[in-house]
Amino acid sequence: MRAARCTSYGKPSGIEVTETDDLEPGPGEVLVRVHAAAVNYPDVLVAADRYQVSAPLPFTPGSEFAGVVAALGEGVTGPPVGSPVAGAVFTGAFAEQVVAPVVALRPIPDGLDMVHAAAFHVAYGTAYHALVTVGGAVAGEWAAVLGAAGGVGSATVDVASRLGLHVVAAASSPQRLAVARELGAEQGIDYVHEDLKARLREVTGGDGVHLVVDPVGGDHAEAALRALRRHGRFITVGYADGRIPRIPLNLVLLKNAIIRGFEARMMREEAPEAVAAAQHALAGMVRDGMRPMVSEVHPLEDVAAALTAVAERRTTGKVVLDLTPTR
Ligand SMILES: NC(=O)c1ccc[n+]([C@@H]2O[C@H](COP(=O)([O-])OP(=O)(O)OC[C@H]3O[C@@H](n4cnc5c(N)ncnc54)[C@H](OP(=O)(O)O)[C@@H]3O)[C@@H](O)[C@H]2O)c1
Repeated sequence: MRAARCTSYGKPSGIEVTETDDLEPGPGEVLVRVHAAAVNYPDVLVAADRYQVSAPLPFTPGSEFAGVVAALGEGVTGPPVGSPVAGAVFTGAFAEQVVAPVVALRPIPDGLDMVHAAAFHVAYGTAYHALVTVGGAVAGEWAAVLGAAGGVGSATVDVASRLGLHVVAAASSPQRLAVARELGAEQGIDYVHEDLKARLREVTGGDGVHLVVDPVGGDHAEAALRALRRHGRFITVGYADGRIPRIPLNLVLLKNAIIRGFEARMMREEAPEAVAAAQHALAGMVRDGMRPMVSEVHPLEDVAAALTAVAERRTTGKVVLDLTPTR
């Protein structure tokens, strides 16, 4: 099979596509013929060995995929061979075949093709859990979404708008804010050229936002926290900026505010009922026409360029690799 391979840690330009051995599922695992794989920011970090967990060399990068079940490992009773599935693994998705634990697989909501299914679960699951499961979002509230044109950010804008929140998008350019507005953001703030705290207060009539969802970190986190209203909630989701914010705790005290984290793997292990509830709610939104914003689709051979574009902050929404079988 064809697979992307990292043989040394570093920039995505070092990743090559080669012919490798076919895979076999082990006990509790499923072999999936990958039809599409989405690029996520952590794939860049894993390739550079800058992620929380190291992938031993050599390895096939890529975490999120959609495809068709090709074989079941020992002790696995389903989904049946031939079923369409989506899933997420630590590494291995940028290849024609991936082996995943059966618990890492998800059904594909009706209405999503393989490209959109590959781009769906990580971003939209994260968005839903950040907003609802840990964020406690209530229709009519003001929510600020940082990095609002990125993968998680665009999904969060989309889901928040559909939940009836008033969404303020924050991103680094007017073009990126226009993307967020198309997904339902009522207000946009260019946090490179505008004062995020002052503008968040201004667009909410002076009171500030009820909820912040932050997949970016860096300096924007504290500015957004300072624009929370009393009893507001700040949900920290990721650090695409590269700098993990150090927050003065008096800001939390003074507002009776709550800062909470969201981490997808822990949610899968510790709160399966919340995961099921999120899947149910998101499937309903897909039935109503919601689709992840896929801005670029590339063949597997372009994997290095696709990862480089994400690493260099040049993409909006999701970038997907198309691995549709040709025969
Ligand atoms: N907690 C979880 O379970 C979970 C799940 C999924 C993802 N994440 C994390 O969430 C973060 C965002 O993931 P994503 O897939 O949405 O990534 P993405 O599509 O690359 O979007 C990240 C956004 O961050 C902004 N940004 C600010 N500074 C940046 C920099 N120096 N380099 C790159 N982007 C920068 C960019 O928007 P502007 O240019 O508009 O600022 C970009 O659109 C990552 O840290 C990822 O690890 C966490």
